[in-house]
Amino acid sequence: MADNKPMRLWGGRFEGGPADALTRLSVSVQFDWRLAPYDLLASRAHARVLHRAGLLTGEELDRMLGALDELESACKRGEFRPTVADEDVHTALERGLLERLGSLGGKLRAGRSRNDQVATDLRLYLRDHVRTIVSRLVELETALMSQAEEHAATAAPGMTHLQHAQPVSFGHQLLAHVHALTRDVDRLKDWDKRAAVSPLGSGALAGSSLPLDPAAVAAELGFDSPAPNSMDAVADRDFAAEFLFCAAMIGVHLSRLGEEIVLWASQEFRWIEVDDAYSTGSSIMPQKKNPDVAELARGKSGRLIGSLMSLLTTLKGLPLTYNRDLQEDKEPVFDSVDTLLLVLPAVSGMVSTMRVNSAKLEASAPEGFALATDLAELLVRRGVAFRDAHEAVGHLVVWCQVNDKDLGDLTDEELAKVSPHFAAGPAEAADGTPGVREVLSVQGALAARSAFGGTAPDRVRDQLVSLREIVDGQAAWASGS
Ligand code: ARG
Repeated sequence: MADNKPMRLWGGRFEGGPADALTRLSVSVQFDWRLAPYDLLASRAHARVLHRAGLLTGEELDRMLGALDELESACKRGEFRPTVADEDVHTALERGLLERLGSLGGKLRAGRSRNDQVATDLRLYLRDHVRTIVSRLVELETALMSQAEEHAATAAPGMTHLQHAQPVSFGHQLLAHVHALTRDVDRLKDWDKRAAVSPLGSGALAGSSLPLDPAAVAAELGFDSPAPNSMDAVADRDFAAEFLFCAAMIGVHLSRLGEEIVLWASQEFRWIEVDDAYSTGSSIMPQKKNPDVAELARGKSGRLIGSLMSLLTTLKGLPLTYNRDLQEDKEPVFDSVDTLLLVLPAVSGMVSTMRVNSAKLEASAPEGFALATDLAELLVRRGVAFRDAHEAVGHLVVWCQVNDKDLGDLTDEELAKVSPHFAAGPAEAADGTPGVREVLSVQGALAARSAFGGTAPDRVRDQLVSLREIVDGQAAWASGS
């Protein structure tokens, strides 16, 4: 059987062999072979159920489990490999079993079909890999949190429309990325609850007339329950599409972080320097140092989104139940898993080793009249309607622009001309609120935003405490503890 004679699980009713063109189109073993360990797990569970159903003797079960173990080690050692003649992973493994057990190997197929097998294998594969992906996300969250801790009190220009808006703590901005990633992890954990349903026992589509025990198989494979509808079980690929959405969302978040890092590392910003280990050079310009990791993180989001689109398009309009179109589910899923596992460690390494140029950040923070809102709010605290305060400070900004001054350069007299309420004096001390000069300092502006969720350094440190707890919980989930 080790020759290249096509190994088929369905030859009985066919007179001639398949056309080469069909074989080439049909074969999936070149990409589904990575499901082999999961297929073997499911086979062990199925063998035990066949034994309990009286369809395998104790001695047959032992030989079957022994052969499955042996086949698994042979796969691991690379001694058992699929050949071009095996249609898919299930076919290749059945060949391996027949080579070891002779006709006994053929008993394992009773009561199951590749339709319920492949749906089970892909769920097992994904539930396993989602935990690895979460571990990699936790590493990125941790890298961002360490930088945020160091820069909780580092002022930076906060932007909207990519224009200076209001000063923020740079740590606050870094933690904004962490919050997005914690939601990504939550989504995967939530996905896992829906994915924890076992299709085994559904057979081709209608269940089995043999006395199998789907609940026992489900439990053995770590699923929460067996599928309650065999037709749904073999046709459902929601779990794959939903995973691909989660992966695409992670990709979009990584692309946003990547884009920020590209900007921050530019000559125009100079907020950070990416470590040499995470930068590349130019083949022609000796001075160049490029943030390729950040750019690739941004670029890879395209294929993650593409995988989701690809599977949704495949699924759209398929009738129940299994259709061969469903074989197209695996490559986008594998590609998205591979992509995330490739990108995440690189982004984590880049973030944890980047050097933050605090002096540049602090100096840029007030630029662009970023304290104008603080000034308007000071007038509000002194009884001015916000609408009027907004107008007054707007005029002040124009005056500054015309006279090439910054808000902080204005004298008390100049301020008083705009609004008498700016006048410093006893009233200021009496109401206990910050005065004009305090409001016009970046650290004062940061500290003033001290309500829950605000950018005050103390609130950023509070955020860190709660995020650490959340991320620890996510790490524990990923490691199964
Ligand atoms: N290789 C197929 C897939 O990936 C599973 C085989 C089911 N084939 C069939 N003809 N019923 O979906």
